[in-house]
Amino acid sequence: CGIVGYIGHRDAFPIIIEGLKRLEYRGYDSAGIALFDGTDLKVTKTKGKVVDLEDRIKNEITTNGTLGIGHTRWATHGVPNDVNAHPHYSNSGNLVIIHNGIIENYESLKKELSKRGYTFKSDTDTEVLINLIEDVKIKENVKLGKAVQVALNQVVGAYSIAVFDKNKPDEIVIARLGSPLAVGIGENEFFIASDASPFLEYTKNAIYLEDEEMAIIRANKEIKIRKIKDDSLVDPYVQELQMNLEQIEKGGYDHFMLKEIFEQPNAIKDTYRGRMLVKEGIIKMAGVDDNIEKFLNANRVIIVACGTSWHAGLVAEYIFEDLARIPVEVEYASEFRYRNPVITNKDVVIAISQSGETADTLAAIKLAKANGAFVFGVCNVVGSSIARETHAGAYTHAGPEIGVASTKAFTTQITLLTLIALKLAKVKGEISNTNYRYHLQELELIPEKVQKALESDEHIKAVASIYKDARNCLYLGRGYNFPVALEGALKLKEISYIHAEGYPAAEMKHGPIALIDENMPIVVIATKKGHYEKVVSNIEEIKARQGKIIGIVTEGDTNVKKLADHVIEVPETLESLSPLLTTIPLQLLSYHIAVMLGKNVDQPRNLAKSVTVE
Ligand code: G6P
Repeated sequence: CGIVGYIGHRDAFPIIIEGLKRLEYRGYDSAGIALFDGTDLKVTKTKGKVVDLEDRIKNEITTNGTLGIGHTRWATHGVPNDVNAHPHYSNSGNLVIIHNGIIENYESLKKELSKRGYTFKSDTDTEVLINLIEDVKIKENVKLGKAVQVALNQVVGAYSIAVFDKNKPDEIVIARLGSPLAVGIGENEFFIASDASPFLEYTKNAIYLEDEEMAIIRANKEIKIRKIKDDSLVDPYVQELQMNLEQIEKGGYDHFMLKEIFEQPNAIKDTYRGRMLVKEGIIKMAGVDDNIEKFLNANRVIIVACGTSWHAGLVAEYIFEDLARIPVEVEYASEFRYRNPVITNKDVVIAISQSGETADTLAAIKLAKANGAFVFGVCNVVGSSIARETHAGAYTHAGPEIGVASTKAFTTQITLLTLIALKLAKVKGEISNTNYRYHLQELELIPEKVQKALESDEHIKAVASIYKDARNCLYLGRGYNFPVALEGALKLKEISYIHAEGYPAAEMKHGPIALIDENMPIVVIATKKGHYEKVVSNIEEIKARQGKIIGIVTEGDTNVKKLADHVIEVPETLESLSPLLTTIPLQLLSYHIAVMLGKNVDQPRNLAKSVTVE
């Protein structure tokens, strides 16, 4: 989501609207604005894009006022509609808020507030937060800043927020934890935004709030920054911005794809946040919990998807069968729907889709439903067609993915499907308590291990420069890492237009081996756990035919190092979780090759982000 705010002497409306347009890359399900027009608070919001908001505003409210906040939303709770759009008010109608992020404990807070007489118009966690702030403000008879602080200390989750009180329209209170927030500093005026792009033409001086900091912003005063936890004052660090607009939208990265690759540690965390309670040994996901009987009574699980999501389905097949002992079939949605498949009411169908709009996947879901199957959706985009068409589901919460080549959607899909498999394994009694706990602990460590894997970026770039002119490339993996080989090859094809094939390592000798000569680069995933020796013998076979070997290995590996032309290390983890790490270097390898070849990385030719035709 994107946040914009203004307090000062100019008209706030155009600044906020133009700012929101610049932030639309962060999500565009719905948009809203709250202005103080000199006497009263004016709020307008709508499903759709910022232009829809603009249209509506022209008919509904005055656009006067020098204080305001606006929001463009990428839904995490509740479908994108007018009611769920931001800003949200408190029950009294005095306080107004915009919010990015997720309040994990919103259900328990909501219960408490309901008991105290608060009512809620929307399904959002945000409306709970603004009423909590109001409750504190009234109960403890404190100023807005204090009330925000006390409330945030009761909140578990991630957020960046901006709040104001229509009865005291000379200040905006902002706070951040886990979701970015910048303040642009002008003369007797301040700009607030998720990144600096909305205020670049007004000022180059900005403060980036750190996690667990909040600020009270008044037009003619100095900004006051405090730590949310202990109330201590923080010296504002004002930076002079050097970046241009485009760079800022991409968070300083050259391409959205690279930004999204680097977002994976946080994206994975956002996927399991609030769902996996490691200490308690609990996995909770409403969509699964409410339908647990359906999963337990299923004869089999059929996974339908397209493209990268189909690869995530293949990884899930290994983990569902291995841990939960449930038979799984993974189907291309486009084949499944036209094959007259055998589907019964004893089948559970899991549809995986980043966009939630892929036409073939949607059609496969309708077919499965018509035949009585229970259909569960794994989508990234909240309120998307697939999310609405399925009986139940869970969102990956990866944040908007802009680059056409899917990256963080893939790893978060795997994370989510792993949670489901572990949950079912536990309920079915297929996994020992120790092993279950071990999996949770290891999964919790994955974000920092992904971070570690990302540190090989420079080395991977060097490897990319050696192979960028290859005409063909082969990707090999076994077991859990066979689908990763497919995904690695797909990434290279998609953005660099080099022909690449993914293969199960042992199948190589039944065909692809004929292609191997001294010009053929072969990426082999050879991590420690999972058929390591077998993969090493496959590597020997390649070596004997002078193929160029790029090994993806576990940190500290020495065997493969002796044989391979290059190795790229990833941290050690459980075999079942290894795809989350081995995928990373393959994404970076294809990214760097495509950049070196001068290709349009974010918008490769002929491809589309969301394929709504069959
Ligand atoms: C397109 C995209 C791919 C994506 C596939 C499935 O081909 O370019 O990146 O994997 O569609 O999309 P979905 O949104 O259903 O995951």
